[in-house]
Amino acid sequence: MPTKSKGPAGELEKMKDIHEELFEKVDRLNHALINLRYEGKANAGKNLKEAWEILCFFEKEVCVHVEAEEKFLFPFLEAHVPRLSPLINLFQAEHEDFRKNLKRFRLALEDLYAEKGNHGRSESIDKVKEVGTYLIYLLRQHLPAEEESVYKAVYRELHEEEREELERLMSSNDGKRMKKAS
Ligand SMILES: [Fe+2]
Ligand SMILES: [Fe+2]
Repeated sequence: MPTKSKGPAGELEKMKDIHEELFEKVDRLNHALINLRYEGKANAGKNLKEAWEILCFFEKEVCVHVEAEEKFLFPFLEAHVPRLSPLINLFQAEHEDFRKNLKRFRLALEDLYAEKGNHGRSESIDKVKEVGTYLIYLLRQHLPAEEESVYKAVYRELHEEEREELERLMSSNDGKRMKKAS
């Protein structure tokens, strides 16, 4: 069992919290995609809106999370636990795939929003479902694999001072981000 950091949640704990939130969003997206074709007049647009909100969450929160992994967590672990290098390369390739397909998902949802005719609508729904389902597949296998390897290694293989150094690096980035946003 990973030891939880004392006091306020550290950056690494926050990273893992995002994973949990993501698992929940992925299930909700799956549900919305299944119901997209069958939504009746009473809740017309409900599932499309849900898919759109999840897209926005992915673009905002998840992209920041993925960047923090690439900028701090991965290089730090590669330097301290070199045997993780091949897996980290795989995770980086999956991140690229995620970003690429997230753009495709946005385009597919925009097309569906713009679609009025029945025939075109059915094709647009197919496209949204195809790309959305791929994103779900990608995340459902990426998140547990990442937790089982890199996140476990942070607690099992780094010395406490190393883990603290990583925390400091990550929180300094968080501070910069917050300044930028305000
Ligand atoms: Fe990741
Ligand atoms: Fe992650």
